[in-house]
Amino acid sequence: MSEISESFFQLMENHSSVRSFRAQAVIPAEHERRIVSAAQRSSTSCNLQTYAFLSIKDPGTRDALAEVCGGQRFIREAGLFFVVCVDLHKMEIVTSRAGYEYYQARYLESFLMSAMDAAIAAQTAALAAEALGYGICLVGSIRNHSDRAIQILQLPPRLFPLVGLCVGVPLRENQPNQPRPRLPLEGVLFQERYDPDRVEAAIRSYDRTMEQTGCYCGREFSLQEVAVAAGETRREDSRPAGPGGYGWIEHSARRVCSRNPEHARPNLSAVLRQAGFGLE
Ligand SMILES: Cc1cc2nc3c(=O)[nH]c(=O)nc-3n(C[C@H](O)[C@H](O)[C@H](O)COP(=O)(O)O)c2cc1C
Repeated sequence: MSEISESFFQLMENHSSVRSFRAQAVIPAEHERRIVSAAQRSSTSCNLQTYAFLSIKDPGTRDALAEVCGGQRFIREAGLFFVVCVDLHKMEIVTSRAGYEYYQARYLESFLMSAMDAAIAAQTAALAAEALGYGICLVGSIRNHSDRAIQILQLPPRLFPLVGLCVGVPLRENQPNQPRPRLPLEGVLFQERYDPDRVEAAIRSYDRTMEQTGCYCGREFSLQEVAVAAGETRREDSRPAGPGGYGWIEHSARRVCSRNPEHARPNLSAVLRQAGFGLE
């Protein structure tokens, strides 16, 4: 492997999200442009490039967006905070310039295609920022209250704030976070056919690995908001007794069974329709 490939793999393998930044550290405009130019090199469906990066520097707007995102302080402190948007407004311009009816705007596929492109571009931007030595954190909680985010950003129709991206100088620059373990590869990579038994084994093994990291201590999702399956009794304790303890299974299960609207985001389809996206 060439030296360049080796250092690229090292960069990816050492990734961990950073959630505390040096608040005063200014990121040069040149770096901001390089990060987004790199993101633009991402593959993009049919070369449509239907995404936009809004770089938010105004402290009032940052504060308001941090509030939307559940008050996560690091959004105020990061040197850069991008809101990566699905941008079908661009296709509105294209279709009207060409004199056609924007027929596919009514279909979910248009939103999905654009959301994939935006997400891929956001990840490329994240890697580019890490290659420049910055720490990053993607921020999906911008969708906690998408309607408010749209309002704050005064987005025109057919724009949707998909994910935030914080870029900054890590507060503990010389003590990088430990990369967070991932599922065993056996639960992710399959030859020809998906194998549910291997997935089950991978999940059980990963559950123990994650519990041992201690990363959930003090970060347990509240049981009060969790929808309990029929026939199960609601547990009272935030750290359930029993063989499972509180590992990846319990944490992830609580996350995806939470009735908290900031997790379930039940108004998303209404907000999307309101913003001019068809979901047929
Ligand atoms: C689409 C997306 C949205 C995310 N949203 C948030 C967020 O709102 N707040 C946060 O602290 N981390 C967020 N993260 C970071 C994940 O929590 C993190 O990537 C995951 O726990 C794995 O940890 P690692 O990145 O340190 O390896 C998000 C990540 C992705 C990919």
